[in-house]
Amino acid sequence: MKDETKCLHAGYTPKNTEPRVVPIVQSTTYVYDSTADVAAVFDDPTKSLIYSRFENPTVMAIEDKIAALEGGVGAMCTSSGQAATLMSILNICKSGESIVASSQIYGGSVNLLAYTFKKLNIECIFVDPDASEEELSKAIKPNTKAVIGETIANPALSVLDIEKFARVAHKHNIPLIVDNTFATPVLCKPFEFGADIVIHSTSKYMDGHAVQVGGVIVDSGNFDWTNGNFPEFTEPDESYHGIRYVETYGKAAYIIKARMQLMRDFGCYPAAHSAFLLNMGLETLAVRMKQYCENALTVAKFFKESDKIESVTYPGLEGDKYYELGKKYLKGASGVIAIVIKGGKEKAIKFMDSLKLASNEVHVADIRTCVLHPAGETHRQLTEEQLKAAGINPGLVRFSVGLENIEDILDDIKQALAQI
Ligand SMILES: Cc1ncc(COP(=O)(O)O)c(C=O)c1O
Repeated sequence: MKDETKCLHAGYTPKNTEPRVVPIVQSTTYVYDSTADVAAVFDDPTKSLIYSRFENPTVMAIEDKIAALEGGVGAMCTSSGQAATLMSILNICKSGESIVASSQIYGGSVNLLAYTFKKLNIECIFVDPDASEEELSKAIKPNTKAVIGETIANPALSVLDIEKFARVAHKHNIPLIVDNTFATPVLCKPFEFGADIVIHSTSKYMDGHAVQVGGVIVDSGNFDWTNGNFPEFTEPDESYHGIRYVETYGKAAYIIKARMQLMRDFGCYPAAHSAFLLNMGLETLAVRMKQYCENALTVAKFFKESDKIESVTYPGLEGDKYYELGKKYLKGASGVIAIVIKGGKEKAIKFMDSLKLASNEVHVADIRTCVLHPAGETHRQLTEEQLKAAGINPGLVRFSVGLENIEDILDDIKQALAQI
């Protein structure tokens, strides 16, 4: 199946008289014929359902769909993108160890990796994603367990050189985790370029309609967990009758371990209803992504021509710093554009407040055009100096192009620019 077809059909094939649409299984528990049946499920939880804190038929259908779209051996949904980032790392990294992260990642991920992980005694070493392989290699320590980056970074909109990062990680026998939220598997399949684990905030394009917060972890099944660096995959798990994950589950060891240990213990699994809503978004993901890209490229070109705009960042725009990498890794540059308005913060705010169609939202990748002013909103606690250090220009506006008619989007921008 091609992506458009997978979006509609992967993960759920109804049998005779069963519902056409993935049904919502609104039940925390499942019934067994005997205590022996329950015991057998505890011996091997992958054989049947135990409890909706870590598995549910509605959610599992969506997990299979996302795994099919990414080309992985399995996926596990989480209650948010943050939970996916957290668990993708904790599945392979513990206190006293470290990870290496691209410095250009989502601010919430920076908080998690730099500050909260520090409290868990996990060090995060940040690297410039444009650094050479030698420089990246130098950042990796003997206790480093993973490298992480974003396909299209939020909000920097830099494109990750996935092959370069994968080569460096693999040279050190550790996996590459890629946050593919902005690209989605429709625009980029990181496993094809050597990534080992993919994570998403499904709250963004996958959902698209802004109706559920969620995340997902997808396992490529390609990483060799028996290379000596990851004894938790080869040694018996005391918390699960001494199961050895690679021996028992082979290529799906990572994702099954994540569910059996971390989801069991942390319990950040989505509700069935959230997964149902996510599926509604996924069904049209492939067609939506094409239109986001087309609309955004038109808007980016318009901004580029405007004398009220100081700079435009959009990897799909010829001349953009990441245009060439984008051509290599992306089938489109998604719908998010960063612009700097001439005249700084005051003019940026005036522009945003003058928009009539586009809405002010702490969100991105919505089906409706929306804007955010990092200096005045998400990063408003920072001083001028701190904003500078974080690379946030006071005039920066993150413009998330939606699926309205392109002429309406442009008319709205034109009238708002005319106000400044
Ligand atoms: C690239 C990226 N990763 C992860 C997250 C966190 O996702 P969530 O808000 O679903 O927890 C976000 C949120 O904006 C994001 O943009």
